[in-house]
Amino acid sequence: MDDILKFLDKIEQEAITALGQSADKAAVDAILVSYLGRKGKLADISKGMGQVAPETRPQVGARLNQLKTKLTDSAEKRLNDLTVSGAADQSFDYSLPGRRRLVGRKHPLLQTVDEIVRIFRGMGFSVASGPDIETDFYNFDALNTPEDHPARDLSDTFYIEKGVLLRTHTSTVQIRTMQSKKPPVRVIAPGRCYRSDAFDASHSPVFYQCEGLFVDNGVTFGDMKGAIITFAKELFGPRIKVRFRPHFFPFTEPSAEYDFSCILCGGKGCRVCKYNGWLEISGAGMVDPEVFKAVGYDPEIYTGYAFGMGVDRITMLRYRIGDIRLLYDNDIRFLRQF
Ligand code: PHE
Repeated sequence: MDDILKFLDKIEQEAITALGQSADKAAVDAILVSYLGRKGKLADISKGMGQVAPETRPQVGARLNQLKTKLTDSAEKRLNDLTVSGAADQSFDYSLPGRRRLVGRKHPLLQTVDEIVRIFRGMGFSVASGPDIETDFYNFDALNTPEDHPARDLSDTFYIEKGVLLRTHTSTVQIRTMQSKKPPVRVIAPGRCYRSDAFDASHSPVFYQCEGLFVDNGVTFGDMKGAIITFAKELFGPRIKVRFRPHFFPFTEPSAEYDFSCILCGGKGCRVCKYNGWLEISGAGMVDPEVFKAVGYDPEIYTGYAFGMGVDRITMLRYRIGDIRLLYDNDIRFLRQF
């Protein structure tokens, strides 16, 4: 009697293993037939019951029934697994086009930052950075911006508490960089800036700038023009023109604002350049001696230039985006295009 029960154990193991390895519904069916079918292995055993001693027949019978249920259940479970994994679905049409997976991509602003960094790296600049949350000292004092300067006004600057604010420009990184190393210094510093402007087509309370700073012996205004013109031509092509207009910044002297000739109309005048042919990019100038004093550089030995750059503006020009808000809405339908 033990023999026959052992034999049934073996059959069970065999059948379960076979089911586990079956790859589709046809294979599962074939296994069921070979064990449970009319001419299957279990039927053979049932037929041989006559040779089993009468007193052990009930036990063997019960075991046979249990085995049948077990195999049917396992087969069902296997079919279920195969369907979940898709393998049993023979109606699947393998010639259908695949489903495209959404691939993440860089935000257009950061693509522009990458491009700016690439171009200035080529001119020997390295990348510096500073925190978005700054103190009065880095955002204003060290940059020679007087106590009563309108830029400090609560209406322009987001203050977190007295003396602590969200930086309004990346010029803060000029100070941090010069504090941390001796000249020569040649860095660009891309980053987020904040001003309490209301959103409209050309203003956003958060925006990107890229600062440039070069300090060494004998750096001139001409060097600065050269760097900015080279940058403009690399980014927008050899036909672009750059114009410098006198301006005032507390931290540079002399100072300028600079414009690129309109890349959309080539300078002839269009809606984007408001029909004057030029697009304002940002400010620049020679580092003011007061700034050098604030960071412990000797203005008798060193000169340097600094410039800012509106990354949003440049991004909008590169991709012909008409409204800055698109850059901050995070609408996937917009972002997918870049
Ligand atoms: N920080 C100035 C701004 O935000 C731009 C600037 C940078 C001007 C460096 C001169 C030198 O408008």
